[in-house]
Amino acid sequence: MKKGIELLATGSALPAKVVTNEDLRRLVDTSDEWIVKRTGIRERRHCVGENQFSLAAGAAQAALERSGVDPARVAACIVTTICADNISPSCACLLQRALGLPEQTVCFDLNGACAGFVYGLQVISGLLTEDRPYGILVSSETLSRLSDFTDRSTCVLFGDGAGAAVVGLCDSPYGLCGDFGSRSNREVLYIPSATASEPSYIHMEGQAVFKFAVDIIPRCIDRVLQQAGLTMDGVDLVVMHQANARIIDHVAKHLKLPPEKCFKNIARYGNMSSACIPIALDDLYREGRLSAGMRLLPVGFGGGLTWGGALLEVGDIK
Ligand code: ACO
Repeated sequence: MKKGIELLATGSALPAKVVTNEDLRRLVDTSDEWIVKRTGIRERRHCVGENQFSLAAGAAQAALERSGVDPARVAACIVTTICADNISPSCACLLQRALGLPEQTVCFDLNGACAGFVYGLQVISGLLTEDRPYGILVSSETLSRLSDFTDRSTCVLFGDGAGAAVVGLCDSPYGLCGDFGSRSNREVLYIPSATASEPSYIHMEGQAVFKFAVDIIPRCIDRVLQQAGLTMDGVDLVVMHQANARIIDHVAKHLKLPPEKCFKNIARYGNMSSACIPIALDDLYREGRLSAGMRLLPVGFGGGLTWGGALLEVGDIK
């Protein structure tokens, strides 16, 4: 047997404020019909009282509590985000105290854009040990803070939320199977930092990102399956980054995936960057659709342009 990692518990936290397509129609020249047809999004959440840290803490506390894992046996806490409230200290360092994690815990934030959660799975697996075999991976994003509410081509797409997963080292016939990469591209998707001379808004050439996504996702999935020696029949659920329902449907058609194997919740939340996948995992858990022994294939893609896919086995999920 090889060493792999398994999913032991999930959690999520969403802002209370629901923003519908109709609400956005009052701000920019758009319509519910356009947004639903082109993206599949019906509503999203926006922070009012919440922030990137409070969402991360809510999701992580829910996952840790559900897992029953002793915080003293957690080796690493990683937060994936492009929206951290502070450059320093990292959100992960602040979570350490909120979660009661020991001083020896490795805590840091990771920017893999929308592929962040899957990057995080790969990174955290290398930090777990026999003595402290558990890790907490949290993805928390507040994209409403980076949205230009005069730009109809981007502001309708994004939302805020956080998802978390407690993972553990396990013996696995597959080991760590993942496919990752990036393309060093600044043109098609970028967000200047708060210290730049232009406002810190999301800039995106939607069609170019769309083409990138439908090209890379099937190839990434094929390479993960090849490494694991599996076919798609051996995978229970593909959980793609929720950027656009048409991207998910396009990939599902290409790979001949039946709809029940391809999770979609974009209608309720929009695109929450790296938080989409762990929130999808928590939705699946709460719908009673996760059970021990299942094999999941999360795939993320986004700014960078980054992508990442990995085989994630479900452990004794609580
Ligand atoms: N309402 C009404 N019309 C709109 C809107 C809107 N909200 N936004 C754009 N339009 C118009 C455009 O102005 C254009 O009008 P024109 O033909 O008169 O010039 C027309 O609609 C078509 O625009 P396109 O950009 O061609 O529309 P498209 O079908 O490509 O959809 C979209 C745009 C939804 C952004 C799509 O390209 C997409 O989803 N791309 C991928 C995005 C993605 O995956 N991002 C992930 C990484 S980013 C992250 O996760 C943080």
